[in-house]
Amino acid sequence: MSDRTHTSHPDIEKVLLTERQIKARIAELGAQISRDYSGRCLTMVSVLKGSVIVLGDLMRSVSGDCCVDFIGVSSYTGTKSSGVVRLTLDLRENPEGKDILIVEDIVDTGLTLHYLLENFKTRGPRSVETCSFLNKPSCRKVSVPVKYVGFDIPNEFVVGFGLDHNERFRNLPYVGVMRSNGGK
Ligand code: IMP
Repeated sequence: MSDRTHTSHPDIEKVLLTERQIKARIAELGAQISRDYSGRCLTMVSVLKGSVIVLGDLMRSVSGDCCVDFIGVSSYTGTKSSGVVRLTLDLRENPEGKDILIVEDIVDTGLTLHYLLENFKTRGPRSVETCSFLNKPSCRKVSVPVKYVGFDIPNEFVVGFGLDHNERFRNLPYVGVMRSNGGK
């Protein structure tokens, strides 16, 4: 596992979070979630595609009973949010009566999470909580509750550890800030 704070990737300006920092924080979140859901079966709903890398680590750090489902939403083109959230893939399982934890890669304007929370409200889950690997609190357009936050970060466009720019960079094992001319 790397703790390198520099990168030789030509499109990445700087490393914001190292692999070691990320893994340590996800383990902490997993421990907290395990305590909070002790004795209950948790259903993690991974918001595609950005949260799948975090989900893999988070699930393995949860000690109790845990299921997974996926939901797809889209609002971004390049580095800009269109502001209009669209469902691109629905859940496989009915969430009714379940303890749902929505797992996001990043909460920026809050519009995606707000859309998802409204959507879940109509589907009768036992409970709905939210977890986001990254959080940009200074960018909110709508207030949303994020119960489990990996890291608060400044208003910069970041990639890696699941986060993309036009589908690239998801495989980087760290979170980095993209050069302004990166990802062309
Ligand atoms: P929101 O609806 O503005 O909160 O944005 C949520 C979605 O926008 C995330 O799930 C990401 O897919 C995308 N997003 C927002 N900021 C970034 C970023 O800095 N890098 C990559 N994707 C981002």
